[in-house]
Amino acid sequence: MSESPVLLTQRGAAAILTIDRPDRMNALSRDTLLALGQFGRDAIADPAVRAIVLTGSGDKAFCAGADLKERHGMDENDVRAQLLRYREELRPLDHSPKPVVAAINGLALGGGLELALMCDLRVAAATAVLGLPETTLGIIPGAGGTQRLPRIVGEARAKEMILLGRRVDAEQALAWGLVNRVSPANTAVLEDTLAFIEPITSGAPIAQSAALAAIDVSFDVSLAHGLELERAYYDACLRSDDRRLALEAFAQKKRPVFTGK
Ligand code: COA
Repeated sequence: MSESPVLLTQRGAAAILTIDRPDRMNALSRDTLLALGQFGRDAIADPAVRAIVLTGSGDKAFCAGADLKERHGMDENDVRAQLLRYREELRPLDHSPKPVVAAINGLALGGGLELALMCDLRVAAATAVLGLPETTLGIIPGAGGTQRLPRIVGEARAKEMILLGRRVDAEQALAWGLVNRVSPANTAVLEDTLAFIEPITSGAPIAQSAALAAIDVSFDVSLAHGLELERAYYDACLRSDDRRLALEAFAQKKRPVFTGK
């Protein structure tokens, strides 16, 4: 295990943030949140990065949620501060203009699943298990789970998972739309994820960023307002070199090489 609880590596145009605490099932300690926040900001600021992948070390856990050993020594105010830290440190990733993708390499429980729910896309290993067990611990999901899960899987399924503490396997998660893809058995989920998102890492960054912003805002505004905003986001693409480049490449029957300008 390295000294930092999170590793930042790069593969092509993808930055990979790996939670590296396999002996604690990659649970989210205070330092882990701070490192995720710092590396998240670094990856977003790096012009060579076009997508960010979150994953965990080992093949047992993506992330088992809050570090329950650390939390054991916390009082109520410490827990409140920790919840605030979740929100503050993960906000840049949550609002990232670059797509953020979870490569769920094993168990994703509590804050671990909430981390994945914050991502734009989710790929699960065939062995992954996902759940929000908080109510079984006398609390509720406190890092966005009650808000994001129903938006993704619908109210009834979200209530089933949260009130019953029900865990779902990868196939069930796929059937519910909780993950976008399940990696084939015996395939490394990170490699599979990088292949899956190749259209993003080789794609047009301004268009992807505009599409993300337009989709994300759709949950907060009326349809009429959303359609107006869509026009404004479209305009940002119209002014880009990449749009012209794509039309030229089409005329020449070539694949466009986007510059992000
Ligand atoms: N925080 C801190 N340590 C954790 C942890 C967490 N959330 N989850 C697991 N660990 C630690 C265990 O304490 C154990 O360490 P130890 O050997 O020093 O005691 C190690 O990781 C392996 O866990 P273990 O329980 O032995 O493995 P398992 O395969 O039998 O079970 C889990 C794995 C994740 C199902 C089980 O550990 C668990 O239920 N953890 C709590 C998950 C949870 O409720 N998260 C939501 C918090 S709101």
